[in-house]
Amino acid sequence: MRPATRMQTIGTESAFEVSARARALEATGRSIIHLQIGEPDFDTPANVREAAKRALDEGATHYAPFPGIPQLREAIAEDATARKGFPVTPDRVFVTVGGKGVMLYAILGLIDPGDEAIVPDPGYPIYESLVRFVGGTPVPIPIRMENDFRLDVDELAALITPKTRMIVINSPANPTGGVLTRGDLERIAELARRHDLVVLADEIYGRILYDGEEHVSIASLPGMAERTIVLDGFSKTFAMTGWRLGYAIVPEWLVQTYGQLVINTISCAPTFAQVGAVEALRGPQDDVDAMVVEFRARRDLIVDGLNAIPGIRCLRPTGAFYAFPDISGTGLTGAELAERLLQEAGVCVLSGTAFGGVGRDHVRISYANSRENLAEALRRIAAFVDELPDVPSSEVAAGASR
Ligand SMILES: Cc1ncc(COP(=O)(O)O)c(C=O)c1O
Repeated sequence: MRPATRMQTIGTESAFEVSARARALEATGRSIIHLQIGEPDFDTPANVREAAKRALDEGATHYAPFPGIPQLREAIAEDATARKGFPVTPDRVFVTVGGKGVMLYAILGLIDPGDEAIVPDPGYPIYESLVRFVGGTPVPIPIRMENDFRLDVDELAALITPKTRMIVINSPANPTGGVLTRGDLERIAELARRHDLVVLADEIYGRILYDGEEHVSIASLPGMAERTIVLDGFSKTFAMTGWRLGYAIVPEWLVQTYGQLVINTISCAPTFAQVGAVEALRGPQDDVDAMVVEFRARRDLIVDGLNAIPGIRCLRPTGAFYAFPDISGTGLTGAELAERLLQEAGVCVLSGTAFGGVGRDHVRISYANSRENLAEALRRIAAFVDELPDVPSSEVAAGASR
Protein backbone atom coordinates (compact mmCIF):
# COMPACT_ATOMS: atom_id res chain seq x y z
CA MET A 1 0.00 0.00 0.00
CA ARG A 2 1.15 3.55 -0.61
CA PRO A 3 -0.01 7.14 -0.16
CA ALA A 4 -1.47 8.99 -3.16
CA THR A 5 1.07 10.30 -5.64
CA ARG A 6 0.04 13.88 -4.95
CA MET A 7 1.49 13.54 -1.45
CA GLN A 8 4.94 13.80 -3.03
CA THR A 9 4.24 17.47 -3.70
CA ILE A 10 3.08 18.59 -0.26
CA GLY A 11 5.43 20.51 2.02
CA THR A 12 5.30 21.15 5.75
CA GLU A 13 5.54 23.75 8.48
CA SER A 14 8.71 22.82 10.30
CA ALA A 15 7.78 24.74 13.47
CA PHE A 16 5.65 21.75 14.46
CA GLU A 17 8.39 19.19 13.80
CA VAL A 18 11.12 21.25 15.45
CA SER A 19 8.87 21.78 18.48
CA ALA A 20 8.42 18.02 18.80
CA ARG A 21 12.21 17.52 18.70
CA ALA A 22 12.77 20.27 21.26
CA ARG A 23 10.20 18.71 23.58
CA ALA A 24 11.85 15.31 23.20
CA LEU A 25 15.18 16.86 24.25
CA GLU A 26 13.46 18.54 27.19
CA ALA A 27 12.04 15.20 28.27
CA THR A 28 15.63 13.98 28.72
CA GLY A 29 16.18 16.73 31.28
CA ARG A 30 17.69 19.44 29.05
CA SER A 31 16.69 23.08 29.54
CA ILE A 32 15.31 24.50 26.28
CA ILE A 33 14.04 28.02 25.62
CA HIS A 34 11.34 27.88 22.98
CA LEU A 35 11.64 30.68 20.45
CA GLN A 36 10.35 28.60 17.55
CA ILE A 37 6.63 28.86 18.15
CA GLY A 38 4.51 31.43 16.32
CA GLU A 39 1.91 31.93 18.98
CA PRO A 40 1.28 34.42 21.77
CA ASP A 41 2.33 33.05 25.15
CA PHE A 42 -0.62 34.86 26.77
CA ASP A 43 -3.87 33.15 27.70
CA THR A 44 -7.03 33.90 25.76
CA PRO A 45 -8.73 36.87 27.51
CA ALA A 46 -10.97 35.73 30.39
CA ASN A 47 -14.16 37.30 28.99
CA VAL A 48 -13.73 35.28 25.79
CA ARG A 49 -13.19 32.04 27.68
CA GLU A 50 -16.22 32.73 29.85
CA ALA A 51 -18.41 33.39 26.82
CA ALA A 52 -17.43 30.06 25.24
CA LYS A 53 -17.99 28.19 28.51
CA ARG A 54 -21.44 29.73 28.84
CA ALA A 55 -22.17 28.82 25.24
CA LEU A 56 -21.33 25.18 25.96
CA ASP A 57 -23.68 25.14 28.93
CA GLU A 58 -26.40 26.82 26.91
CA GLY A 59 -26.30 24.17 24.21
CA ALA A 60 -24.04 25.59 21.48
CA THR A 61 -22.88 22.05 20.85
CA HIS A 62 -24.57 21.44 17.51
CA TYR A 63 -23.59 22.16 13.92
CA ALA A 64 -23.44 25.83 13.00
CA PRO A 65 -24.43 27.21 9.60
CA PHE A 66 -21.54 26.37 7.24
CA PRO A 67 -20.32 29.95 6.73
CA GLY A 68 -20.40 30.68 10.48
CA ILE A 69 -22.97 31.75 13.09
CA PRO A 70 -24.77 34.96 12.03
CA GLN A 71 -23.68 36.90 15.14
CA LEU A 72 -20.02 36.21 14.39
CA ARG A 73 -20.27 37.01 10.68
CA GLU A 74 -21.93 40.30 11.62
CA ALA A 75 -19.29 41.09 14.25
CA ILE A 76 -16.50 40.32 11.77
CA ALA A 77 -18.13 42.44 9.06
CA GLU A 78 -18.42 45.40 11.43
CA ASP A 79 -14.90 45.02 12.80
CA ALA A 80 -13.38 44.59 9.34
CA THR A 81 -15.29 47.57 7.93
CA ALA A 82 -13.84 49.72 10.73
CA ARG A 83 -10.29 48.39 10.77
CA LYS A 84 -9.64 47.42 7.17
CA GLY A 85 -11.27 50.45 5.61
CA PHE A 86 -13.68 48.93 3.10
CA PRO A 87 -17.36 48.00 3.44
CA VAL A 88 -17.66 44.34 4.44
CA THR A 89 -21.07 42.68 4.52
CA PRO A 90 -21.70 39.47 6.51
CA ASP A 91 -22.54 37.49 3.36
CA ARG A 92 -18.89 37.82 2.24
CA VAL A 93 -17.54 36.43 5.52
CA PHE A 94 -16.64 32.77 6.04
CA VAL A 95 -15.57 31.49 9.44
CA THR A 96 -13.01 28.73 8.97
CA VAL A 97 -10.90 26.37 11.03
CA GLY A 98 -7.87 28.62 11.55
CA GLY A 99 -6.49 31.16 9.15
CA LYS A 100 -5.00 28.11 7.48
CA GLY A 101 -8.48 27.13 6.34
CA VAL A 102 -8.76 30.40 4.42
CA MET A 103 -5.49 29.63 2.65
CA LEU A 104 -6.57 26.11 1.76
CA TYR A 105 -9.87 27.21 0.23
CA ALA A 106 -8.35 30.14 -1.64
CA ILE A 107 -5.74 27.93 -3.27
CA LEU A 108 -8.04 24.93 -3.86
CA GLY A 109 -10.73 27.18 -5.24
CA LEU A 110 -8.59 29.33 -7.51
CA ILE A 111 -5.46 27.54 -8.68
CA ASP A 112 -5.69 25.14 -11.60
CA PRO A 113 -2.84 22.78 -12.56
CA GLY A 114 -0.27 24.85 -14.45
CA ASP A 115 -1.32 28.17 -12.87
CA GLU A 116 1.36 30.25 -11.20
CA ALA A 117 1.01 31.89 -7.79
CA ILE A 118 3.59 34.38 -6.59
CA VAL A 119 4.52 33.70 -2.97
CA PRO A 120 6.87 35.52 -0.61
CA ASP A 121 10.32 34.00 0.04
CA PRO A 122 10.89 33.95 2.93
CA GLY A 123 7.22 33.47 3.66
CA TYR A 124 4.77 31.29 5.52
CA PRO A 125 5.60 27.86 4.08
CA ILE A 126 2.03 26.66 3.59
CA TYR A 127 1.35 29.00 0.65
CA GLU A 128 4.02 27.31 -1.41
CA SER A 129 3.13 23.84 -0.18
CA LEU A 130 -0.57 24.13 -1.07
CA VAL A 131 0.05 25.71 -4.47
CA ARG A 132 2.28 22.79 -5.38
CA PHE A 133 -0.17 20.30 -3.88
CA VAL A 134 -2.97 21.42 -6.21
CA GLY A 135 -0.68 21.21 -9.24
CA GLY A 136 0.17 24.89 -9.48
CA THR A 137 3.61 26.45 -9.61
CA PRO A 138 4.71 28.65 -6.72
CA VAL A 139 6.89 31.51 -7.96
CA PRO A 140 8.95 32.97 -5.11
CA ILE A 141 9.33 36.73 -4.79
CA PRO A 142 12.45 37.49 -2.73
CA ILE A 143 11.92 39.49 0.45
CA ARG A 144 15.21 41.09 1.45
CA MET A 145 16.53 42.69 4.59
CA GLU A 146 18.10 45.50 2.49
CA ASN A 147 14.56 46.46 1.46
CA ASP A 148 13.25 46.46 5.07
CA PHE A 149 11.72 43.06 4.40
CA ARG A 150 9.24 44.53 1.91
CA LEU A 151 8.89 42.98 -1.51
CA ASP A 152 10.32 44.95 -4.41
CA VAL A 153 7.34 45.81 -6.63
CA ASP A 154 9.48 46.09 -9.79
CA GLU A 155 10.75 42.60 -9.15
CA LEU A 156 7.17 41.45 -8.62
CA ALA A 157 6.12 42.97 -11.94
CA ALA A 158 8.90 41.06 -13.69
CA LEU A 159 7.64 37.73 -12.29
CA ILE A 160 4.14 38.08 -13.72
CA THR A 161 3.49 35.85 -16.76
CA PRO A 162 0.34 34.90 -18.67
CA LYS A 163 0.06 31.93 -16.30
CA THR A 164 0.07 34.04 -13.13
CA ARG A 165 -3.24 33.82 -11.33
CA MET A 166 -2.57 34.87 -7.74
CA ILE A 167 -0.26 37.04 -5.68
CA VAL A 168 0.07 36.16 -2.00
CA ILE A 169 1.00 39.01 0.31
CA ASN A 170 1.44 38.89 4.06
CA SER A 171 1.73 42.13 5.99
CA PRO A 172 2.83 42.28 8.77
CA ALA A 173 4.83 39.26 7.78
CA ASN A 174 5.85 35.94 9.17
CA PRO A 175 8.85 35.28 9.40
CA THR A 176 10.35 38.76 9.00
CA GLY A 177 8.01 41.17 10.80
CA GLY A 178 8.16 43.31 7.64
CA VAL A 179 5.26 45.64 6.84
CA LEU A 180 4.28 46.76 3.34
CA THR A 181 3.72 50.50 2.95
CA ARG A 182 0.57 52.03 1.50
CA GLY A 183 2.67 52.94 -1.54
CA ASP A 184 3.77 49.31 -1.97
CA LEU A 185 0.17 48.13 -1.74
CA GLU A 186 -1.03 50.71 -4.24
CA ARG A 187 1.56 49.53 -6.74
CA ILE A 188 0.75 45.85 -6.12
CA ALA A 189 -2.95 46.65 -6.56
CA GLU A 190 -2.20 48.37 -9.84
CA LEU A 191 -0.41 45.25 -11.09
CA ALA A 192 -3.26 43.02 -9.95
CA ARG A 193 -5.82 45.12 -11.80
CA ARG A 194 -3.71 45.40 -14.95
CA HIS A 195 -3.04 41.65 -15.18
CA ASP A 196 -6.42 40.53 -13.80
CA LEU A 197 -4.93 38.73 -10.79
CA VAL A 198 -6.37 37.65 -7.48
CA VAL A 199 -4.62 38.71 -4.28
CA LEU A 200 -4.58 36.51 -1.20
CA ALA A 201 -3.93 39.10 1.53
CA ASP A 202 -2.85 37.40 4.74
CA GLU A 203 -3.58 40.00 7.42
CA ILE A 204 -3.45 37.69 10.42
CA TYR A 205 -0.90 39.97 12.16
CA GLY A 206 -2.77 43.15 11.15
CA ARG A 207 -3.29 44.32 14.74
CA ILE A 208 0.22 43.54 15.92
CA LEU A 209 1.93 46.73 14.77
CA TYR A 210 4.39 49.06 16.49
CA ASP A 211 5.75 52.59 16.33
CA GLY A 212 2.56 54.13 14.95
CA GLU A 213 2.55 51.88 11.87
CA GLU A 214 -0.96 51.85 10.30
CA HIS A 215 -2.60 48.71 8.99
CA VAL A 216 -3.61 49.08 5.35
CA SER A 217 -5.66 46.36 3.72
CA ILE A 218 -5.08 46.04 0.00
CA ALA A 219 -8.81 45.28 -0.29
CA SER A 220 -9.54 48.91 0.64
CA LEU A 221 -7.81 50.22 -2.50
CA PRO A 222 -9.85 51.04 -5.61
CA GLY A 223 -11.22 47.97 -7.40
CA MET A 224 -9.47 45.56 -5.03
CA ALA A 225 -12.29 44.21 -2.84
CA GLU A 226 -13.50 42.35 -5.94
CA ARG A 227 -10.15 40.60 -6.47
CA THR A 228 -8.90 40.09 -2.91
CA ILE A 229 -9.38 37.29 -0.44
CA VAL A 230 -8.61 38.67 2.98
CA LEU A 231 -7.28 36.13 5.46
CA ASP A 232 -7.58 37.02 9.12
CA GLY A 233 -8.42 35.25 12.34
CA PHE A 234 -8.39 35.03 16.10
CA SER A 235 -5.21 33.01 16.69
CA LYS A 236 -2.69 35.81 16.99
CA THR A 237 -4.73 38.92 17.91
CA PHE A 238 -6.62 37.29 20.76
CA ALA A 239 -4.16 34.55 21.72
CA MET A 240 -6.61 31.90 20.49
CA THR A 241 -4.35 29.56 18.49
CA GLY A 242 -5.92 26.45 20.01
CA TRP A 243 -9.47 27.56 19.24
CA ARG A 244 -8.79 27.15 15.51
CA LEU A 245 -10.81 30.08 14.24
CA GLY A 246 -9.98 32.14 11.20
CA TYR A 247 -12.04 33.97 8.65
CA ALA A 248 -12.09 34.89 5.01
CA ILE A 249 -13.58 37.97 3.41
CA VAL A 250 -14.20 37.00 -0.19
CA PRO A 251 -15.53 38.73 -3.31
CA GLU A 252 -19.13 37.99 -4.24
CA TRP A 253 -18.12 35.75 -7.17
CA LEU A 254 -16.25 33.44 -4.76
CA VAL A 255 -19.00 33.00 -2.18
CA GLN A 256 -20.45 29.87 -3.81
CA THR A 257 -17.00 28.28 -4.25
CA TYR A 258 -16.04 28.94 -0.65
CA GLY A 259 -19.31 27.50 0.58
CA GLN A 260 -18.80 24.30 -1.42
CA LEU A 261 -15.29 23.87 -0.06
CA VAL A 262 -16.38 24.44 3.55
CA ILE A 263 -19.25 21.97 3.20
CA ASN A 264 -16.94 19.38 1.67
CA THR A 265 -14.31 19.66 4.38
CA ILE A 266 -15.31 20.90 7.83
CA SER A 267 -19.10 21.48 7.61
CA CYS A 268 -18.58 24.42 9.98
CA ALA A 269 -16.14 25.78 12.54
CA PRO A 270 -16.86 24.76 16.17
CA THR A 271 -20.08 26.43 17.33
CA PHE A 272 -19.26 27.31 20.96
CA ALA A 273 -15.83 28.62 19.91
CA GLN A 274 -17.58 30.98 17.50
CA VAL A 275 -19.67 32.36 20.37
CA GLY A 276 -16.41 33.08 22.21
CA ALA A 277 -15.08 34.84 19.12
CA VAL A 278 -18.10 37.19 19.10
CA GLU A 279 -17.08 38.29 22.59
CA ALA A 280 -13.47 38.69 21.42
CA LEU A 281 -14.57 41.22 18.80
CA ARG A 282 -17.39 42.93 20.68
CA GLY A 283 -15.95 42.90 24.21
CA PRO A 284 -13.23 45.13 25.71
CA GLN A 285 -10.02 45.28 23.67
CA ASP A 286 -7.68 46.09 26.58
CA ASP A 287 -6.03 42.67 26.57
CA VAL A 288 -5.13 42.99 22.89
CA ASP A 289 -3.68 46.46 23.46
CA ALA A 290 -1.69 45.28 26.49
CA MET A 291 -0.33 42.33 24.55
CA VAL A 292 0.92 44.57 21.76
CA VAL A 293 2.60 46.91 24.28
CA GLU A 294 4.37 43.93 25.83
CA PHE A 295 5.41 42.54 22.42
CA ARG A 296 6.93 45.89 21.56
CA ALA A 297 9.09 45.88 24.70
CA ARG A 298 10.19 42.34 23.94
CA ARG A 299 10.98 43.27 20.36
CA ASP A 300 13.38 45.94 21.58
CA LEU A 301 14.93 43.57 24.08
CA ILE A 302 15.59 40.89 21.48
CA VAL A 303 16.67 43.20 18.65
CA ASP A 304 19.10 45.17 20.85
CA GLY A 305 20.40 41.95 22.37
CA LEU A 306 20.97 40.30 18.99
CA ASN A 307 22.70 43.34 17.53
CA ALA A 308 25.12 43.30 20.46
CA ILE A 309 26.30 39.81 19.44
CA PRO A 310 29.19 39.81 16.94
CA GLY A 311 28.25 38.24 13.62
CA ILE A 312 24.51 38.93 13.98
CA ARG A 313 22.60 41.82 12.35
CA CYS A 314 18.94 42.31 13.11
CA LEU A 315 16.43 44.78 11.70
CA ARG A 316 13.84 46.26 14.08
CA PRO A 317 10.55 44.94 12.67
CA THR A 318 7.42 47.07 12.95
CA GLY A 319 4.92 44.22 13.01
CA ALA A 320 4.14 40.63 14.13
CA PHE A 321 6.30 39.04 16.86
CA TYR A 322 9.29 37.71 14.94
CA ALA A 323 12.89 38.77 14.46
CA PHE A 324 14.74 37.50 11.39
CA PRO A 325 18.40 38.29 11.92
CA ASP A 326 21.15 37.82 9.35
CA ILE A 327 23.58 35.50 11.09
CA SER A 328 26.07 35.06 8.22
CA GLY A 329 28.78 36.79 10.27
CA THR A 330 28.89 33.74 12.54
CA GLY A 331 30.27 31.66 9.67
CA LEU A 332 27.26 29.33 9.90
CA THR A 333 24.13 29.05 7.79
CA GLY A 334 20.75 29.57 9.41
CA ALA A 335 20.13 25.82 9.36
CA GLU A 336 23.47 25.08 11.03
CA LEU A 337 23.03 27.76 13.66
CA ALA A 338 19.46 26.66 14.47
CA GLU A 339 20.55 23.04 14.89
CA ARG A 340 23.57 23.88 17.01
CA LEU A 341 21.70 26.34 19.20
CA LEU A 342 19.17 23.63 19.95
CA GLN A 343 21.72 20.90 20.62
CA GLU A 344 24.51 22.89 22.27
CA ALA A 345 22.90 25.99 23.78
CA GLY A 346 19.34 24.92 24.61
CA VAL A 347 17.71 27.62 22.48
CA CYS A 348 15.17 26.56 19.89
CA VAL A 349 14.81 28.82 16.84
CA LEU A 350 13.93 28.04 13.22
CA SER A 351 16.24 28.08 10.25
CA GLY A 352 15.41 30.82 7.75
CA THR A 353 15.20 28.11 5.09
CA ALA A 354 12.04 26.82 6.77
CA PHE A 355 10.46 29.78 4.96
CA GLY A 356 12.23 29.56 1.58
CA GLY A 357 15.69 29.58 0.05
CA VAL A 358 16.24 33.32 0.43
CA GLY A 359 16.33 32.84 4.22
CA ARG A 360 19.55 30.80 4.09
CA ASP A 361 21.58 33.23 6.18
CA HIS A 362 18.84 33.88 8.72
CA VAL A 363 17.09 32.33 11.66
CA ARG A 364 13.58 33.14 12.81
CA ILE A 365 13.15 34.04 16.44
CA SER A 366 9.66 34.31 17.88
CA TYR A 367 9.72 36.76 20.77
CA ALA A 368 6.34 35.62 22.04
CA ASN A 369 8.04 34.53 25.25
CA SER A 370 8.69 36.19 28.64
CA ARG A 371 11.34 38.90 28.92
CA GLU A 372 13.15 36.71 31.42
CA ASN A 373 13.34 33.81 28.95
CA LEU A 374 14.35 36.14 26.11
CA ALA A 375 17.18 37.57 28.22
CA GLU A 376 18.38 34.07 29.11
CA ALA A 377 18.16 33.01 25.44
CA LEU A 378 20.28 36.02 24.46
CA ARG A 379 22.88 35.08 27.08
CA ARG A 380 23.00 31.53 25.74
CA ILE A 381 23.24 32.64 22.09
CA ALA A 382 26.00 35.16 22.90
CA ALA A 383 28.00 32.54 24.81
CA PHE A 384 27.61 30.04 21.97
CA VAL A 385 28.63 32.52 19.26
CA ASP A 386 31.59 33.65 21.39
CA GLU A 387 33.04 30.14 21.07
CA LEU A 388 32.78 30.00 17.27
CA PRO A 389 36.13 30.10 15.44
CA ASP A 390 35.05 32.57 12.72
CA VAL A 391 33.68 35.21 15.06
CA PRO A 392 35.85 37.80 16.80
CA SER A 393 35.38 37.66 20.57
CA SER A 394 32.62 39.90 21.88
CA GLU A 395 35.02 42.17 23.86
CA VAL A 396 36.83 43.14 20.67
CA ALA A 397 33.90 43.28 18.30
CA ALA A 398 30.98 44.48 20.39
CA GLY A 399 31.26 48.09 19.28
CA ALA A 400 32.06 47.36 15.65
CA SER A 401 29.19 44.95 15.09
CA ARG A 402 26.38 47.48 15.59
C1 LIG B 1 1.31 34.29 8.16
C2 LIG B 1 0.38 33.31 8.80
N1 LIG B 1 -0.79 33.07 8.23
C3 LIG B 1 -1.65 32.19 8.74
C4 LIG B 1 -1.35 31.48 9.87
C5 LIG B 1 -2.31 30.43 10.34
O1 LIG B 1 -2.99 30.81 11.45
P1 LIG B 1 -4.02 29.85 12.17
O2 LIG B 1 -3.35 29.33 13.38
O3 LIG B 1 -5.18 30.74 12.51
O4 LIG B 1 -4.41 28.78 11.23
C6 LIG B 1 -0.13 31.69 10.50
C7 LIG B 1 0.24 30.91 11.70
O5 LIG B 1 1.36 30.87 12.12
C8 LIG B 1 0.75 32.65 9.95
O6 LIG B 1 1.94 32.90 10.52
